[in-house]
Amino acid sequence: MRKKIVAGNWKMNTTVPEGVELAKAVLAKSAEVPAGVGLIVATPFTHLTEVAKVVKGSRVELSAQNCADKVSGAYTGEVSAAMLESVGCKWTILGHSERRQYYGETDAKLVEKTRLALEQGLGVILCVGENLDQREAGKHLEVCTEQIKNVLYNFSAEDMKRIVVAYEPVWAIGTGKTATADQAEEIHACIRKVLADKFGAKVADDTTILYGGSCKPSNAKELFSRKDIDGGLIGGAALKADDFIAIAQSF
Ligand code: PGA
Repeated sequence: MRKKIVAGNWKMNTTVPEGVELAKAVLAKSAEVPAGVGLIVATPFTHLTEVAKVVKGSRVELSAQNCADKVSGAYTGEVSAAMLESVGCKWTILGHSERRQYYGETDAKLVEKTRLALEQGLGVILCVGENLDQREAGKHLEVCTEQIKNVLYNFSAEDMKRIVVAYEPVWAIGTGKTATADQAEEIHACIRKVLADKFGAKVADDTTILYGGSCKPSNAKELFSRKDIDGGLIGGAALKADDFIAIAQSF
């Protein structure tokens, strides 16, 4: 069955001690979130080991924000899926628009990254989304469809059990501009249809599709009330435990 999830993407924020405090604050309030809602914190690589100790044995699951497209070896500065797994990571975000935009991440690379993450037993939160020009040109459905096909059509229905999709319109990320619930629902329904075309209706129906882009306590309820929006990938608001928890209470 499709799971509701709220995942915090901390991006390049907090020092390790600050991150440990934030994780502790999230953990302390996690009991206030209904049992059926999955909670994930995606921390910087440097924080994973320490935050793993904080959340160990709890309902809060640990995620990375990226992983390498190679298994191991001479790839200076990279962090492999096996390394993530070894510190207690359960998930990795892949294909965030900031990585696509600033670090040249391509769909082809994302296929490799997804494959290696799944092979290590990690779950993948795959991000897709159009930029402002693409939306204004009316190409948003097309762009998201292509991104989903380019990456996920290389995987199996079985693999899809460990893949979550996050729709993140680039124009809404960190800008304070949120997609309206109608705009988000249109894309979520489209993504589910694209998944159904390849994997069948059951797999598509069971896939969790998150919304991300200036999601906050004041708009989460409206967004999460839509039938194809199963939760959120939260940036800025995930840096405050109270806001993050309030969003997770918005179903
Ligand atoms: P934002 O970021 O909530 O700060 O807009 C969301 C994201 O990029 O995951």
